[in-house]
Amino acid sequence: RSAAARSAPSSSDLLRRGFSSESVPERKVVVLGAAGGIGQPLALLMKINPLVSKLSLYDIAGTPGVAADVGHINSRSEVAGYVGEDQLGQALEGADLVIIPAGVPRKPGMTRDDLFNINAGIVKSLCTAIAKYCPSAIVNMISNPVNSTVPIAAEVFKKAGTYDEKKLFGVTTLDVVRAKTFYAGKANLPVAGVDVPVVGGHAGITILPLFSQASPQANLPEDVIKALTKRTQDGGTEVVEAKAGKGSATLSMAYAGAVFADACLEGLNGVPDVVQCSFVQSSVTELPFFASKVVLGKNGVEKVLDLGPLSDYEKEGLEKLKPELKASIEKGIKFANDN
Ligand code: NAD
Ligand code: LMR
Repeated sequence: RSAAARSAPSSSDLLRRGFSSESVPERKVVVLGAAGGIGQPLALLMKINPLVSKLSLYDIAGTPGVAADVGHINSRSEVAGYVGEDQLGQALEGADLVIIPAGVPRKPGMTRDDLFNINAGIVKSLCTAIAKYCPSAIVNMISNPVNSTVPIAAEVFKKAGTYDEKKLFGVTTLDVVRAKTFYAGKANLPVAGVDVPVVGGHAGITILPLFSQASPQANLPEDVIKALTKRTQDGGTEVVEAKAGKGSATLSMAYAGAVFADACLEGLNGVPDVVQCSFVQSSVTELPFFASKVVLGKNGVEKVLDLGPLSDYEKEGLEKLKPELKASIEKGIKFANDN
């Protein structure tokens, strides 16, 4: 749930207050790319999530070490490490939730689309295995370019006859995390109580933060809203440049990925009013995939929420982002069908 929308205690809240883990359903979570920059801290955060009973860590190299390491943490889940394609099926079998941070990250000067040639193939092969070994799992796609990798996943699942649009999510939570942090800083508000929806997609101008719907509403001047919008859109690049060739956001992404995965698990467990922004199959605009607020439930997406009232600046941003997002979606669909 968005921090500001929490009302009833969630199952993870109850566990933290000392209720026994037996009252919480068994849930197997798989991380594909678990030895990477995102994968490792994400494995740690999922290991300490009391909603997880089995944690399966897969990568093409390095997972035995990561699994041995986080496996020593005295939290609920059993941990297993799987390495190499031969073990991918075993890693996936019985999964409730599969999180995919596999693939190459950006270096300075690159766009997320520059990652397409390598990551599209990785995502396609991993999704082919998901269709085979855990066709009803929820999928959280982190690998970039998200605007294209989510459509690729959808096409792979359609071809395999396993596609359920309610279960495929592009993770855009880091955009929300950034928008909240930057807005709270400018508005001089305690960040814990701040909420900002971010819609559209996950690259440059396709990232559209809706500061007109931020809560609490600080009524910041137009020039500040424009600067906040630009900083949110360029947040990934800010980290890529600061890391100077050593990759992109990993720690903040692991945090964001863990927040989103936790929300998916709460939804699966029947916790009411779980709402997160995510890039999903959508009819909110004319584009087939779009990020907006989504209600999460026992089957994944329960409802894709409308964009709500937009300021003139946001309306303009929405029209500007559509051609780029449409092209990225079409590129993903074409790749999946041509390869
Ligand atoms: P990384 O290079 O540190 O780690 C990637 C991992 O994927 C490596 O351990 C690698 O061995 C593994 N991998 C490669 N091919 C694989 C395959 N076929 N099967 C399983 N694992 C495989 O990169 P990172 O910094 O962790 O970033 C990973 C991806 O996440 C990148 O594409 C990056 O752009 C993306 N990302 C997305 C967001 C977002 O907001 N959605 C944020 C940050 C990064
Ligand atoms: C991010 O937003 O940090 C990620 O998408 C990684 C990147 O390439 O910017």
